[in-house]
Amino acid sequence: MIKEVKLNSIILGDAYEVIKKIDSKSIDLIVTDPPYLISKGSSGNGRISKQMLKLTNELQDSDVANGIKLDILDEFMRIMKKPNIYIWCNKKQILPYLDYFVGIHKCSFEILTWIKTNPIPTCGRNYMNDKEYCLYFRKGISLHTTYQTGKTYWITPTNVKDKKLYGHPTIKPIDIIKTLIQNSSAPGDVVFDCFLGSGTTAVASKELERNYIGIEKNSDYYEITLQRLLSC
Ligand SMILES: C[S@@+](CC[C@H](N)C(=O)[O-])C[C@H]1O[C@@H](n2cnc3c(N)ncnc32)[C@H](O)[C@@H]1O
Repeated sequence: MIKEVKLNSIILGDAYEVIKKIDSKSIDLIVTDPPYLISKGSSGNGRISKQMLKLTNELQDSDVANGIKLDILDEFMRIMKKPNIYIWCNKKQILPYLDYFVGIHKCSFEILTWIKTNPIPTCGRNYMNDKEYCLYFRKGISLHTTYQTGKTYWITPTNVKDKKLYGHPTIKPIDIIKTLIQNSSAPGDVVFDCFLGSGTTAVASKELERNYIGIEKNSDYYEITLQRLLSC
């Protein structure tokens, strides 16, 4: 049961504060895409192209590349009925998330990968920045995967069209998010995302007849989500 926060609502606010209002054991599935952890102006070995530097600095300024405070993971565990969570991340964040969910909470895990066919065509002396990870952690949860939906990678271009349409720099492809929701929840379940961006998780949930709760702190992205939800 959720008392303070209504089902099928999105909230303009700070995830770290608003999540405290969600009842314990009230959420069936979390699908979330928190800020990645990208060091400003650095690629690891000090070499970075001008194009990559510009992108990194833009992402940092719009608050989608500063990582998260890891104590929110305790809140995620508190609000889920059973551990059932997808978290998008970059390479640097894999280890802390695995440590937490597998090391401490003994969840099963899967590393899903989105490989982008149109990455920024530069790498300095590093490997190219052409994939993103989606970690899945669960305990006591059965999947509804099929031959079509059970693969662990997607190979697609970045969705430039949706980026332009909805104005979010790191919008996720809705088809991937729908696959995750279908594989790990049932109609009527409650899906939660407290780093909602342009609302992809909420829109996918609504279209799949799941309930949703979302939080986003940027008022422009919050408004975009409201509009997307109205027209789906
Ligand atoms: C990676 S983006 C999510 C993009 C989303 N998956 C989509 O498809 O549009 C992360 C979002 O988290 C938001 N955010 C960052 N810190 C936040 C916080 N403390 N509370 C709520 N939202 C936050 C950012 O404004 C950004 O829109």
